[in-house]
Amino acid sequence: MARSALLNVMVAAATKAGRGLTRDFGEVENLQVSRKGPGDFVTAADHRAEKVIREELQRARPGYSLLMEESGTIEGTDPQHRWIVDPLDGTTNFLHGIPLFAISIALERQGQIVAGVIYNPVMDELFTAERGNGAFMNNRRLRVAGRATLTDCVIGTGIPHLGRGDHGRALMELRHVMGEVSGIRRCGAAALDLAWLAAGRFDGFWEHDLSPWDMAAGLLMIREAGGYVSDASGGEKMLETGSVVAGNEYIHHHLLAQLKNARKQA
Ligand code: IPD
Ligand code: CA
Ligand code: CA
Repeated sequence: MARSALLNVMVAAATKAGRGLTRDFGEVENLQVSRKGPGDFVTAADHRAEKVIREELQRARPGYSLLMEESGTIEGTDPQHRWIVDPLDGTTNFLHGIPLFAISIALERQGQIVAGVIYNPVMDELFTAERGNGAFMNNRRLRVAGRATLTDCVIGTGIPHLGRGDHGRALMELRHVMGEVSGIRRCGAAALDLAWLAAGRFDGFWEHDLSPWDMAAGLLMIREAGGYVSDASGGEKMLETGSVVAGNEYIHHHLLAQLKNARKQA
């Protein structure tokens, strides 16, 4: 598998930040016993990871713009290129010592995502994709799962956290989908969920109210693994609406139909 120079830059940034997050994750496990918990420590770890990634990316391509979860937009001299970064996706998992979290880095060129890296440093699983060149996990080529009927499928989703999102809609959608599928999973790191779908672990996935940094790399990964992605209305406005529905051709179609039924009855 040949990686472009840009993808190598992204991998280097993700793995460097990943080493820091792995060290910090070990400390978080120790802090669980304290009554206050590791909240402040995790916030600092998140910011440290973002700083490492920003420095690596800016060193390699000083002019590129950035959209980062913690720092927001950083305008560069090159308006054609933008890095979209979540330094720690799955913060709640990280905070609770659950090893399902990832770093997500995407590269957008003239409004189109052309490369993506999603890295879970604890499992040492590195997911990469480049437009037109396929998706990989640690050098193994990825294909989405081939199941065609919902009853055989494990479907991932996101359930809104306390004080966020539309809990009523989430319940209605869960009710509809859970009656049709083999099982539902809520793993708590959207970038990783999308990478897992590209890897054929999940057959389908849907979530609302995501941010661009949660999904930019994952959307490309799924398409490069032969999957289908859309927003909740079946359109292309994932980054604008924050909603995503994904699967292979059949499951994407069935899942969209179930979500539409759920909306009708809401
Ligand atoms: C969150 C995770 C989670 C999703 C939330 C995101 P964070 O990102 O991806 O799975 O349900 O909507 O905000 O806050 O851990 O970076
Ligand atoms: Ca996130
Ligand atoms: Ca985050």
